[in-house]
Order: sequence, then structure tokens, then C-alpha cells
Amino acid sequence: MRKICIFLFSGTGMTQYVINKAKAEFEKSTAVVDLKCIEHCLVEEIELSDYDEIGFAYPVHSFNAPKKVINFIKLLPQGNHIPTFIFATAGEQNTLNYASSNLLRKILNKKGFDIFYEGLFAMPSNFAMKYEENKVQELLDNVNADICRAVYQINKNCYFILKRSFGSNLLAFFGRAEWFGARCIGKFFYADKSCIFCGKCEKHCPNQNIQVTDNVIKFGRQCGLCMRCVYLCPAGSIKLRQPFKFIAFDRWYENPELKIPGKQ
Ligand SMILES: Cc1cc2nc3c(=O)[nH]c(=O)nc-3n(C[C@H](O)[C@H](O)[C@H](O)COP(=O)(O)O)c2cc1C
Repeated sequence: MRKICIFLFSGTGMTQYVINKAKAEFEKSTAVVDLKCIEHCLVEEIELSDYDEIGFAYPVHSFNAPKKVINFIKLLPQGNHIPTFIFATAGEQNTLNYASSNLLRKILNKKGFDIFYEGLFAMPSNFAMKYEENKVQELLDNVNADICRAVYQINKNCYFILKRSFGSNLLAFFGRAEWFGARCIGKFFYADKSCIFCGKCEKHCPNQNIQVTDNVIKFGRQCGLCMRCVYLCPAGSIKLRQPFKFIAFDRWYENPELKIPGKQ
């Protein structure tokens, strides 16, 4: 029985969706898949040698992997040539996203992970663009077929690495400015009067950046702009002040297949 471990980070559930589907697809063949959420994973407890293959999955943030994912990967032990694949989800099917794993691959290569496959899945954007329900469903239908194809190719050990253009490499490089920008923009979040102080945002923030004290919601300087708090909030209270108001929505797509981490 082939054993696969997939390390994933998902802000608002899209990457989680892809990985759940991929796990089910892998397990149709002779494979078992362990899913490990990066935010809950203790690096000291990871035994890479227990697995035949490793996967990493993340949402594209400003043409890159999120800082949280990079930080996690830096802490991993040596890969000892373990076959490795990378799945990324993005808010649109755009070749400019193709270099999002550049830094991640550099670190993994140095650690001796043998990366043989990359998949990029176009999901509904959770950032700046608002997709209508029918568009969401269309994207999910397409992505389901893409996942089956990717898993089939991985099962067959196909080598597939996305072809970067000069533009995508450049965007990936400069997009890293977002890691610092996120900390600043994060201070522009606020909970409006509709807040019910349920504490979900605090409990599920992957960066422990939110504090609920004396019926005040405080946003710190560790925001990763993953948007989980905005989408998870049952009262739709979390907003961004100007000039960043356009980035976050106060509404979640009511698609039953997309489940935000932390939502019951
Ligand atoms: C801060 C931020 C930056 C993003 N940057 C990009 C981007 O550069 N290209 C893109 O196609 N989508 C971008 N997106 C959209 C996400 O990649 C997409 O919605 C993803 O599937 C979200 O996955 P998640 O729900 O697992 O976090 C961005 C989203 C956020 C929150």
C-alpha cells in the first residue's frame, strides 16, 4: 500500500476542497493519504520516512505561496529524495500564477525533496473579485476533472512542472512584498456593530492575530491576509477600512461543497 502525506494550508476552504477530492481520488487506487494542516502540525513529530510520497498544497497569494507555508517548509527535515508534488489553488486560470511555487521549490530542492509534479487549480477567488454562484459551480465542475487528471498523472509518475514566463517569475519575486503588506493591511480590519462576539475569528485565525477582549475585537500585526475571519464570521461583521475596502467581501458563497476551516 502506497502511503502519501499531504501538508496543506487553506485560508477559506478552497485548497481544502481540492485536497479532499484528491485524497478520495488517490484512495481509489492502492494508496492511503494522511492530510496534515500546516497550522496544526508539529514539525518535530513528522516522520517523512513513513511515506512514499509527499504533497504540499496552498492558495496562491500575490503570485506566491503564503508566508506561513514557506516558514513551515523551512522547518521540515531533509527530504532524502522523496518524490514530491505541489498543488496550488488560485482565483483564476492565469499563467501569471505559474511561478507561485518558485521559492517553495527552491527550499524543497535544497532539502532534497524530488519535486516531480505541479498542479494549479482555478477556484473561485476569495479576494477582490466576487464570483456569482453559477460561475462558482462552473469552476468547481472544471476543477473536479482537473483533480482526477492530476491524480492519474501522479499515480503514473508523470513528470510535469508548470512552465514559467519571465513575467510570472517577476511577479512571484515582487509579490513577496505582500508578506510585509499583509501585516500592515491586517491592521485595517475591524468588526462592525453586527459582531456577536462569538470568538470564532480569534479561535480559527491561523496566525493567532485576533483577540477578543471586553467585547472588542483586536487585530494584531501578524495577519497573513488569508481571509478566513472574513468568510467564517457568522454575522458577516469583519470588514476592511478604506483604502482596502475592495479586498474583502462581507459574503460567502453559499456553496455546500466549500467549507471554511472552522465552520461546522
Ligand atoms: C491575499 C490574497 C492574495 C491572492 N492572490 C492571488 C493571486 O496572485 N492570483 C490568483 O489567481 N489568486 C489569488 N488569490 C485568490 C486565492 O488564491 C484563491 O481564492 C484560493 O483558491 C484561496 O484558497 P483557500 O480558500 O484555500 O485559502 C489571492 C487571495 C488572497 C486572500
